[in-house]
Amino acid sequence: MKTFIKVIVFSAVILSVYTIFPMTLPQQRSEPPPLEEKVGALTMDKFIDIGKDIFEGKRGGFGGCILCHDPKLRRAPELVNMHATSEDRLKDPRYKGKAKKGEEYLRESMMEPSAFVVAGFGVAGSNDTKSPMLEIKKYLKPWEINAAIAFLQSKDGGEVTVQPPTGDEGGGEKEAGAGAVAAPPAPARTPQEFFQKYGCGACHKHEKGGIAGALAPDLTHIGSSGAKRRPGMSARDYIRESILNPTAFIVPGMPPIMPPGFGDRMTAGEFEMAVAFLADSK
Ligand code: HEC
Ligand code: HEC
Repeated sequence: MKTFIKVIVFSAVILSVYTIFPMTLPQQRSEPPPLEEKVGALTMDKFIDIGKDIFEGKRGGFGGCILCHDPKLRRAPELVNMHATSEDRLKDPRYKGKAKKGEEYLRESMMEPSAFVVAGFGVAGSNDTKSPMLEIKKYLKPWEINAAIAFLQSKDGGEVTVQPPTGDEGGGEKEAGAGAVAAPPAPARTPQEFFQKYGCGACHKHEKGGIAGALAPDLTHIGSSGAKRRPGMSARDYIRESILNPTAFIVPGMPPIMPPGFGDRMTAGEFEMAVAFLADSK
């Protein structure tokens, strides 16, 4: 009988460890891993769809162009009629870049954002010579940049001048689509990888973290400044809250644009690593 009770108690403890403990951690990604297909098999429609996914943040790992190019936020120009706008930019007297065609202008906007800065959208104090746009080329392969171009050209009825990759360009690589199952993205192993994977650098700067965003508070010394944000809250708790629930406290003078839901996308290990690194950033 005693053994029987021990077994019951033991099972109850094990059960609660496995049900209650995970509830205290940020949720892990639970949707099924993406399916894949050969890049070489992409049709034009699928290619444009990939560009749309990049734009909307479903692909590329930096939160999407929509992080900034959302007309409601007014942080970046609204990307409408880009097939025509891209040609007009080349005729702008301020244009000093290397592009000769609209397509090249769009590519340059992503590869070298500061080559031409749309008036009024430069980094504060730079007199529109420095773009706050993040370096997309760190996140996207050349053919994915072309997919984004195809999406921008086509979405308001323009002609698409870029081609889907051939099998060779894609290097026989596997891509999202129909077919076999791909591995889920590997967990970030260092804070630097973490910032890249989740696109924190689109907005934030952190000197040791290797990111240089200009739209949100500099996190280089958040371990000190974070302790002063909320009375009675430690820097560590404040950082946890900032990531899991960005609207709980808005830093004065800053726009409330930090996306919610980061906690749902990262693993508990990634989250704890990032919080520890930021809390030590004094
Ligand atoms: C961190 C914010 C941010 C992100 C993310 C971002 N952009 Fe931008 N982008 C800007 C800002 C600000 C400008 C205006 C300054 C400039 O011209 O560089 C801009 C300018 C542009 C322009 C030139 C627009 C024009 O009217 O001439 C294009 C094209 C563009 N972005 C495309 C993209 C695409 C495609 C993505 C996603 C793959 C993207 N951007 C992601 C902030 C961002
Ligand atoms: C689209 C831009 C954007 C992205 C992407 C973003 N943040 Fe933020 N974040 C902000 C802004 C703006 C604020 C200040 C306003 C506020 O308090 O919400 C902020 C505030 C914070 C703060 C508090 C800063 C302070 O000085 O009090 C922390 C910590 C933070 N973010 C961490 C992160 C981390 C970690 C990531 C990536 C997982 C991230 N953010 C991604 C825009 C962003």
